[in-house]
Amino acid sequence: MKYFKAIAAMSLNRVIGADGKIPWHLPDDFKWFKQMTMGNVVVMGRKTFESLGRPLPNRKNLVLTKHPQRLIKKMPEIFGQYHEWRGGKHLKRAYQFHFSKLGEKNETEIFIFKSLDKLDPQEFPTDIFICGGAQIYEQALPRCSDLYLTLVKREIENGDAFFPKFENKFEPVEEIKDTPEFKIVHYRHKSLLK
Ligand SMILES: NC(=O)c1ccc[n+]([C@@H]2O[C@H](COP(=O)([O-])OP(=O)(O)OC[C@H]3O[C@@H](n4cnc5c(N)ncnc54)[C@H](OP(=O)(O)O)[C@@H]3O)[C@@H](O)[C@H]2O)c1
Repeated sequence: MKYFKAIAAMSLNRVIGADGKIPWHLPDDFKWFKQMTMGNVVVMGRKTFESLGRPLPNRKNLVLTKHPQRLIKKMPEIFGQYHEWRGGKHLKRAYQFHFSKLGEKNETEIFIFKSLDKLDPQEFPTDIFICGGAQIYEQALPRCSDLYLTLVKREIENGDAFFPKFENKFEPVEEIKDTPEFKIVHYRHKSLLK
C-alpha cells in the first residue's frame, strides 16, 4: 500500500502562513524542500498555488480547488505576461495544463483536481508530497505515511494559517537537521504502516 507524504514548516506556535505567505525566509529549508520534492508530485491547495505565483518547476503540480473554472480563468492574471499557459485538456478527473516561460521549451505539468478523495497515491510512480496549506494538511495528514516537518525556532505573532495537531498520530523517527534557526524532523504515522 502506498500513501502520501507530507512536507511542511511551522513555527514554535504552529504558524505556517500569514496573509497568504510563509512568514520567514530560510534558504536552507527551501533547498531541503526542493531536494525532497524534485522529480516528484506536489499537491497543494488553491490558495498556496496562488501565493506561489507559478507552479513548482520539475515537479508535477496537483492543485486542489472546488471551482476549477474560476481558477482557470484567473491563471493569466496569476502568472503574468511572461508565461505561457496551454492545454486545458479535460481528463476524466482533472484538467491538465502545461506551463512555461515565454520562449522557453521547459514545461511544467499542472493538474487541477476537484477533490482530494479522488487522489490515489498508487497511481503515481513517484513520491506524492502534500505541500499545504493548512486546509490541505488537515485533510490529508490521516493519509500520510511520513511527515517531514521543519520546526522554525521562532514565535510568529500575526499568523493566520496553522499546522494541525499531528503528535498523537505520528512519532519521530529521525532528526534530519538541527540549526540555530530551525530543525527538520522525520515523523512516521503510527498505525498506517502496520
Ligand atoms: N509553512 C509551510 O510549510 C506552508 C506550506 C504551504 C502553504 N503555507 C501557507 O498556508 C497558507 C494557505 O493555507 P490555507 O489553508 O489558507 O489554504 P490552502 O490549503 O493552500 O488552499 C485552500 C483551498 O484549497 C481548496 N480545497 C481545500 N480542500 C479541498 C478539497 N477537499 N477538494 C478540493 N479543493 C479543496 C479550496 O479552494 P477553492 O476555494 O478554490 O475551492 C480552498 O479554498 C498560506 O499562508 C501559505 O503561504 C505554508
